Amino acid sequence: MTAQLDSFYPTRVDFGTLDEIHRAAAAILPPDVLDFVEGGAGKEITLRANTAAFDRWRILPAPMSGVGTPSTRTELLGLGLDTPILTAPFGGDALFHAEGHLAVARAAQQHGALSIVPEAGSFSYERVHAAAPRAARIAQLHPFGHAPTEAQRLAHNGFEALCITVDCPVGGFRTRNMGNRFDPDQRLFAGNLTGENGAPGVAEVFGQLLKQGGAVWDWDQLADAAKDFGLPWIAKGILTPAAAERALAIGASALVVSNHGGRQLDPAPASLDMLPSIRAAVGPELPILLDSGVRTGSDVYLALALGADAVIIGRAAIYGLAAAGEAGVDRVFALLNEELRTLMILSGAATLGDIDHTRIVRAPA
Ligand SMILES: Cc1cc2nc3c(=O)[nH]c(=O)nc-3n(C[C@H](O)[C@H](O)[C@H](O)COP(=O)(O)O)c2cc1C
Repeated sequence: MTAQLDSFYPTRVDFGTLDEIHRAAAAILPPDVLDFVEGGAGKEITLRANTAAFDRWRILPAPMSGVGTPSTRTELLGLGLDTPILTAPFGGDALFHAEGHLAVARAAQQHGALSIVPEAGSFSYERVHAAAPRAARIAQLHPFGHAPTEAQRLAHNGFEALCITVDCPVGGFRTRNMGNRFDPDQRLFAGNLTGENGAPGVAEVFGQLLKQGGAVWDWDQLADAAKDFGLPWIAKGILTPAAAERALAIGASALVVSNHGGRQLDPAPASLDMLPSIRAAVGPELPILLDSGVRTGSDVYLALALGADAVIIGRAAIYGLAAAGEAGVDRVFALLNEELRTLMILSGAATLGDIDHTRIVRAPA
């Protein structure tokens, strides 16, 4: 009887919707950890604006378009991808699931996706790369004094690009964490910052994120350091045309239009709202990724229509991770990709390149 039941009930995790995954994550995570994930800075105006911005656009149907098997293949900095969805670098990942980014990267690899490996993660860059070498090819770094040395370590360890976070010279004014007296174990952020064998420690590198008055880099210092990176780099945290132009002038190969998921400057504008002017400023060729507020396949579609080449998911991936580890993130990818392909069929877009501003309209105010 048991054997029959086991074979009848699926043993793999089979969440029906992204909302179910979100609810499962919210039920599993301790309240202060959930607040750390869900929360933003200040009054959380930006946090709310990020998701609201997507709801102001509509996709035009294209009846009888003949598109039945759309392709979601694309390329970023010469790396071939089966989907325009990447996972975000998020630190402290073992707070959400014991396998953290090892699980995230493995799930991304199943889907031919890229997973950006964070500096403040629970596992070292090398361990995540070994777990999923075809997904873990971009490493995120903070622009502090150790960056050039770290960049060279990464170039020798299988990474093909860097993602430099430019919007986090100091941690945002994270009100929920303050209310919770949130004080996580720093070892969960120390996968790369062990303090052993001459490596810097987490307190040393991130100490200045936790207090004001630390040494904060400017664009000129980043330009100097970038000369020694030895890898192409992406500027993450661009929200204005001026910052986009500045990053390009000092050698960035791509941009992430992002407000850090509403966790840094509040009230800052929504990423999606700033995307068209940034695309206009840098021209059609430069690779642009967008993050902050992407929760559904329709959000992915709209970001692409408004000028992004790909999107990055932060919290959506964390919900999958918390809900069921690798299987949960796998399900997040499956559902996002399935919705995206459905919308491509319904709107007559055969390739990602077909998704442009002519396929969307602004909703009436
Ligand atoms: C819990 C958490 C930790 C994060 N840690 C980092 C980090 O260490 N470095 C970084 O560049 N961005 C970090 N981010 C920001 C994400 O990379 C990404 O920009 C953001 O989550 C995108 O918004 P979304 O969550 O609405 O998708 C973090 C985000 C979350 C939710």
